[in-house]
Amino acid sequence: MPVHLNTAGAGLMPAAVVDAMTGCLRREAQGGAYETELWHADTLDKGVYENLARVLDAPAGDLALFDSATRAWTAAVTALSLSARDRIWITPYEYAGNLILWTELRRRTGVRIEVVPLLPGGDLDVDWMRNSIREDVAVVSVPHVPSGCGIVNPVEEIGRFLASWPCLYLVDACQSVGQLPVSVRDIGCDLLTGAGRKFLRGPRGTGFAYIGPRLRARARPPFHDLHVADMTSDTTYEVHTDGARRFEYAERSAAAVMGLDAALQHHLRRTESTVEPSGGTLRDLVRAAVEDLPGTRLVDPGTRHASLVTFVCDRAPAPRLRDELAARGVNVWVAQGSHTPLFMRREGIDHAVRVAPHYYNTPEDIAVFARELRAIVD
Ligand SMILES: Cc1ncc(COP(=O)(O)O)c(C=O)c1O
Repeated sequence: MPVHLNTAGAGLMPAAVVDAMTGCLRREAQGGAYETELWHADTLDKGVYENLARVLDAPAGDLALFDSATRAWTAAVTALSLSARDRIWITPYEYAGNLILWTELRRRTGVRIEVVPLLPGGDLDVDWMRNSIREDVAVVSVPHVPSGCGIVNPVEEIGRFLASWPCLYLVDACQSVGQLPVSVRDIGCDLLTGAGRKFLRGPRGTGFAYIGPRLRARARPPFHDLHVADMTSDTTYEVHTDGARRFEYAERSAAAVMGLDAALQHHLRRTESTVEPSGGTLRDLVRAAVEDLPGTRLVDPGTRHASLVTFVCDRAPAPRLRDELAARGVNVWVAQGSHTPLFMRREGIDHAVRVAPHYYNTPEDIAVFARELRAIVD
């Protein structure tokens, strides 16, 4: 088996996740998919939301499931009523998918998009934010950990001072849930989105959102699906929940949701029964291995770092390093500059190698990575 250092792409699923999914699929194949959904109704309609609520420290009724983090984000953001009077604050670390949506919303509504400045070392200038915030800032969007580098943004600190302002506070937690403690209550955000497949070790095709009451009260989803709405006459319909699930679509893969539930349980068993093991040591070993090499440069803004290390090497482009490491049994990935464009382009980076160990990796794995990388680069 390869040494898997690409959890920022997708983590390795534990056996319990694979069993939950294959068990569900087998039952669907033998006994019918709708019948299987009924059989698992407790988990699909209740248990998975309760487990996600424990993981995110959020009320279960404020949670919705989607088939990707981007779908979760767009479901909530496109439901907002924005106008040319509104200012949207984003950061240079905004994910490109979210940025495409902001760009489209600017085209449609005239909202102004402003980018929060960075301090010289790459941390967000939180003092600037605190001093510059005004009533016309309608939305503040911050990724907890970006896609292309390992900075951990101070989402709790930002949430504390935003609490006294009317703006909605959106946090993209795609790269942090499962590797860092994430508490919606401590962050104080109105939207928090993530994917099941990364540090939570769930299946592909799963995403989720905390959609808080303040955002829901201001949102007008363009559509409500049949799990939450009924036509009450030929020309009227009624939505029978005020909860976050009204942002979902009714149809979904029961096997994927069962897998997500198993991943959440697995995560809860690990984090509630042990002192959270930190990916920090492994991350520091990766950083040391990269720093030791001639011609490499860490892409390393900020003072707090997650288990996600990116670097460029002037001797070999990132796609080649990824492919050659794969041939030697080490999985890393390419962070495309265009996926975190405001930061990476400014740094002049088209591609970087992204190394993301998780708690299932060992120091020996990092030693293998270091040895093979050196053999390629030297
Ligand atoms: C920070 C960040 N946000 C959002 C996403 C989008 O997630 P998805 O591919 O599930 O839509 C990613 C994906 O890697 C990401 O790294």
